[in-house]
Amino acid sequence: MIKVEGLSKRYGRTLAVDNISFEVQKGQIVGFLGPNGAGKTTTMRILTCFLPPTAGAAQVAGYDVVNQPLEVKKRVGYLPENPPLYTELDVESYLAFVGKLKGIRRADLKARIDLACERCAIEEARKTIIGKLSKGYRQRVGLAQAIIHNPDVLVLDEPTSGLDPKQIIETRTLIKKLAGDHTIILSTHILPAVEQVCERVIVINKGKLVTIDSLENLMQRMRGAEVLLLTVEGRDGPLDAAQAQRRLEQVAGVARVALQETANGRAAFEIQSSPGRSIHTEVARAVLEAGWLLRELRPAARNLEEVFLELTAEQKETRSGGDQ
Ligand SMILES: Nc1ncnc2c1ncn2[C@@H]1O[C@H](COP(=O)(O)OP(=O)(O)O)[C@@H](O)[C@H]1O
Ligand SMILES: [Mg+2]
Repeated sequence: MIKVEGLSKRYGRTLAVDNISFEVQKGQIVGFLGPNGAGKTTTMRILTCFLPPTAGAAQVAGYDVVNQPLEVKKRVGYLPENPPLYTELDVESYLAFVGKLKGIRRADLKARIDLACERCAIEEARKTIIGKLSKGYRQRVGLAQAIIHNPDVLVLDEPTSGLDPKQIIETRTLIKKLAGDHTIILSTHILPAVEQVCERVIVINKGKLVTIDSLENLMQRMRGAEVLLLTVEGRDGPLDAAQAQRRLEQVAGVARVALQETANGRAAFEIQSSPGRSIHTEVARAVLEAGWLLRELRPAARNLEEVFLELTAEQKETRSGGDQ
């Protein structure tokens, strides 16, 4: 249903999307995952014919995004990161406006609006001015405009960003319900969104494809490696974290060390073993030999968040308790 081949997009000197290829089969919900700036929005804008690619090709529902944009647009519903809602219109008028733009015949318009409102659970807000709606409601209006022409494919850019936890659950439930009838690609930089909704995951970082896999496989791939959280302190004065990291990287069986934070002369590291290796004894020994004070050494809980960070982190790159 979606086929992307060697797609690239350059903005001046920035290569926002770098030669990515993937396919999405009919009826699937696929998570398009990557940190901010990864190139998700750019890719989605190409898929929805809002931006031309610099190189490569993309087909949606069998039509080429460059050569057959009208055919593509008929078959794609797009929820942009910041949907251009007309805040002075009421929901119904807005949907009518969008419906007409999308070429829905006047005779069909009311039925289409009814259906979209029902499916997005915004019936009671039909007469409300969009500017007065809560963020969660607005997002559902955004979804309603995306599905109004009953497209084969839905492209949803960060559909749950900026919502409160209750609204997030509602939106996820709604997206899952839409999945039966539509092929969905949804982007997110927040993992739980994917964990609960998507069957497959496409991970991109810095414009490059990192991996495509089922959610299950992705989790599986990371099993078998031991991950420890280690907090140490210098015995005579503050610890040199970079030096400590290099030392930990030398420990037998250690595949990767990431500095998590430094505070009050302490440093916290996440240490991952090579697959199948047990490293806690060796790590503890290294701490003693280095003369550091051991504050904490425990297994890290593994979740998709960490898997993701690992997949997108460059080898041996340190990270400093960021916002991802
Ligand atoms: N209109 C633009 N002009 C120049 N650079 C852009 C533009 N849009 C995005 N970029 C850059 O392209 C890269 C990818 O951005 P984007 O596709 O928005 O990523 P994401 O949606 O994954 O956060 C970023 O480095 C961003 O700064
Ligand atoms: Mg984006």
